[in-house]
Amino acid sequence: MSYNLLKGKKGIIFGALDNKSIAWKIAMRAHEEGAVFTLSNTSVALRFGEINELAQTCNAEVIPADATSVKDLEHVFLRSMEVLGGKIDFVLHSIGMSLNVRKHRPYDDLDYDYFQKTIDISALSFHKMLQVAKKLDAINEWGSVLALSYIAAQRTLVGYNDMADAKALLESISRSFGYIYGREKHIRINTVSQSPTRTTAGSGIKGIDGLLDFTERMSPLGNATAEECADFSIVLFSDLSRKITMQNIYHDGGFSSMAMSQKAMAQYNKCLDEGDNL
Ligand SMILES: NC(=O)c1ccc[n+]([C@@H]2O[C@H](COP(=O)([O-])OP(=O)(O)OC[C@H]3O[C@@H](n4cnc5c(N)ncnc54)[C@H](O)[C@@H]3O)[C@@H](O)[C@H]2O)c1
Repeated sequence: MSYNLLKGKKGIIFGALDNKSIAWKIAMRAHEEGAVFTLSNTSVALRFGEINELAQTCNAEVIPADATSVKDLEHVFLRSMEVLGGKIDFVLHSIGMSLNVRKHRPYDDLDYDYFQKTIDISALSFHKMLQVAKKLDAINEWGSVLALSYIAAQRTLVGYNDMADAKALLESISRSFGYIYGREKHIRINTVSQSPTRTTAGSGIKGIDGLLDFTERMSPLGNATAEECADFSIVLFSDLSRKITMQNIYHDGGFSSMAMSQKAMAQYNKCLDEGDNL
């Protein structure tokens, strides 16, 4: 159902790869809610992903960019203002990648070149995006910038590896820049800490199936889906959330406030009983 929450708003959506991507679902909802926007991803992602299908549906131009390159980001903002006919109202950073995770390097045997790439792609790119936007004065007053995060920024989770450090930095950048951008331009910056979700990046997490089952049992409302994340992101882009900034907001069905639930305990006890019979 559409509420026209983003009618007249212009945006840039980074990170839609295929129809499982959280950014893809957010783009679809933003389109439904009346926004116009551009889409951006790396040249490789554009070749191997399905972004052109999304672009057609949403009538959006696709602008290739490596989010670690300031020059590429400048082009994305300048070109977006050109095709959309003015300054931007909302930006989505939905970008994450770790070569250490991909190559199964454990946290106590990290490759440091990979580690630096993880930080650059998954966290510093957010600072670069914000700094470029501010220098170009590309975002309208009361605009809203959002990045996607994960609870591993605060709590240790087996298998999340150096992405945990990247997410902690991402959330910190959101606060530090949020203060400056808020003070000077009334621009809001937040992170949404989403439930584990089965996407290309999500599937890279070691033991994703067990993790999804565990968080589902632990969360009183169940895991939040990518579609539900899209709904919430639209609210954060809209004028209905004008005074929310510098926040990391858990969108996880209650998981982050739990220590043990009935459903998880039942499963745990079942495993203990089975163990007793061995
Ligand atoms: N899937 C989950 O379980 C989950 C949970 C919480 C947060 N998140 C976060 O959500 C965001 C989106 O991930 P997703 O799950 O939709 O997976 P996804 O694989 O669909 O999206 C990740 C995107 O990052 C892009 N990317 C990688 N390197 C890039 C670079 N150098 N420049 C520009 N783009 C680059 C990829 O091309 C891809 O589109 C990520 O920040 C991820 O960490 C995911």
